[in-house]
Amino acid sequence: MDFTGQTAIITGGASGMGAATAREFVKAGGYAFIVDRNEKLALEVANESDNFDAIVGDVGDSAFCDRAVQTVLEQKGRLDVLVNAAGIILRADALKTTDEAWQNMMNVNVNGVFYMSRAAIKPMLKQGKGAIVNFGSIWGDVGAAGVLAYCASKGAVHQITRAMALDYVEKGIRINAVCPGEVDTPMLRSGRVSPPTEADMKKLADSVPMKRLAHPSEIAQVVCFLASDGASYMTGAMVPVDAGFTAR
Ligand SMILES: NC(=O)c1ccc[n+]([C@@H]2O[C@H](COP(=O)([O-])OP(=O)(O)OC[C@H]3O[C@@H](n4cnc5c(N)ncnc54)[C@H](O)[C@@H]3O)[C@@H](O)[C@H]2O)c1
Repeated sequence: MDFTGQTAIITGGASGMGAATAREFVKAGGYAFIVDRNEKLALEVANESDNFDAIVGDVGDSAFCDRAVQTVLEQKGRLDVLVNAAGIILRADALKTTDEAWQNMMNVNVNGVFYMSRAAIKPMLKQGKGAIVNFGSIWGDVGAAGVLAYCASKGAVHQITRAMALDYVEKGIRINAVCPGEVDTPMLRSGRVSPPTEADMKKLADSVPMKRLAHPSEIAQVVCFLASDGASYMTGAMVPVDAGFTAR
């Protein structure tokens, strides 16, 4: 993969798989803007390389998303790749999901993907080329107990990916999604009744056919492949990176 001369926005780039993706993109010669609401972590990642920058804000705010893309265009003159990795999780069934929590989930995980993608498509159309990679999930494909709003949000991300891919299929813009399984990031450990013990993590790993959790870089490499010219014949695809989880 060679991203020399290319510019990317990586939402959620301050942590987990977004940060891993930003690092892979820069390692392959690109320039990455980390768009994240966690200022401290975003600046920490941005300080790792001269080819990083950080834009702090909330992807659930459409005006912020438009401004973020504008900032990138003012600084770099182009936007080649958008990776929508920002996301939150809520571990709750229907009765434990408040209106506010449901709306917050949809605002970040669904609206955030829509607002950023809509903003990014405009310069990509002018360029006649662009790639968007969304973070779906195994839970956007199969159901799971105790994560209702999250499952619904990821199902929506899968459908945004398919529908938008078809809208721009003849305009040089490819839009795909990765669907990770159980990946060892702060999100995996968060939102639980109590912090998971080593035994809890082993039980989780044992639920995966490969009997282990993924390292964030194992997903980041697939994201960068989808963003690269190597994936030139791929659009509208949901790509599982789940160690066989959804193959059963
Ligand atoms: N960890 C897993 O096992 C797993 C599995 C499948 C899919 N995913 C998805 O992968 C993506 C990355 O998750 P991760 O595990 O690396 O999580 P993470 O919690 O490590 O990172 C998520 C990042 O998103 C940022 N973020 C959250 N809300 C935001 C908002 N409104 N605006 C801007 N930034 C915001 C956070 O500050 C954080 O830096 C998410 O979309 C998640 O749903 C995760």
